[in-house]
Amino acid sequence: MTSSDTTLGDYRFFDLKPARRNMHEEIVAGLHAAEKRIAPKYFYDERGSLLFESITELPEYYLTRAEMTVFDRYGEELGAVIDGGTCLVEYGGGSSQKIRKLLETGQPEAYMPVDISKNHLQNNARALHRDFPGLSVYPICADFTQPFELPNVADGCNRVGFFPGSSIGNFDPADAVTFLSNIAANLGSGAQLIIGVDQKKAPEILQAAYDDAQGVTAEFNLNLLKHLNEVLDANFAIDEFSHEAVYNENLGCVQMYLRSRKAQQVSVGTDLVDFARDETIHTENSYKYHLAEFQTLVQAGGFTVKSIWRDERDWFAVVLLEVK
Ligand SMILES: C[S@@+](CC[C@H](N)C(=O)[O-])C[C@H]1O[C@@H](n2cnc3c(N)ncnc32)[C@H](O)[C@@H]1O
Repeated sequence: MTSSDTTLGDYRFFDLKPARRNMHEEIVAGLHAAEKRIAPKYFYDERGSLLFESITELPEYYLTRAEMTVFDRYGEELGAVIDGGTCLVEYGGGSSQKIRKLLETGQPEAYMPVDISKNHLQNNARALHRDFPGLSVYPICADFTQPFELPNVADGCNRVGFFPGSSIGNFDPADAVTFLSNIAANLGSGAQLIIGVDQKKAPEILQAAYDDAQGVTAEFNLNLLKHLNEVLDANFAIDEFSHEAVYNENLGCVQMYLRSRKAQQVSVGTDLVDFARDETIHTENSYKYHLAEFQTLVQAGGFTVKSIWRDERDWFAVVLLEVK
């Protein structure tokens, strides 16, 4: 599809208002747990979304480049999956970089990016609609970790899911199975899902990808506390926490933390949270998979594997799944 197409696609924004629902309760419960934790979805205020885009350009963050290489190498096959009467549903589609790549070879009828980061989602969806006026674009602001219904626009189209970036790795394996089952229900029987998965590799490569020399990932991790200060009337002193990323080889997972530099008390609205010196908040997991492990996971989530496409180093795979 190109900007010269003459049929004008539709544009409608659906706000399922996910951001504030239960946020305070969830954050406070996580901060009072024996091992403090905050879910990674809270990284993504507008600044968090922009910082993530900067991360994707860092020399150490090979994931985006490797996945884009796969899209380049197998563009024709991928284009065929999303062609003709398809509605492409992207989970975490706030930035339109990857859909733009798929639109070089495929022509879906409609595109539904689902994302929690409202302004970022709307800005990119509007720009995409402007650049591809023949494409119907239906951004949906929602939390994809909670069950939700897709709006009944584009109902005549075949649904194809798109979940790039190895974002599946942010779920613990058991939660990944639940998430995939929800997506299978969301998309319907026989539907396909194009999913990106980062493979296990040398620990130093994995660790560097989440702890870059310029400190952009540190800024992204610490921005979570700024987000809580703004939205939940918290008073985290950002300079009193530090970023940490470690590859846990037993779990096959890069784990990100914020470490308290000193003993301190923080208020989150009217709640008080005590930190011991060196105590951590666990902010993100990024599981890495051997492809055999990944196949077992997606089968448990209700999918079968149809194709596997890889980059030339075999670091990252794009897998085509079908709902059983
Ligand atoms: C790691 S980024 C990946 C972005 C892009 N899909 C890529 O492959 O590079 C995660 C994206 O998912 C969104 N996101 C994270 N958690 C979410 C949730 N629970 N519900 C909806 N969107 C979420 C973020 O706003 C962000 O756009």
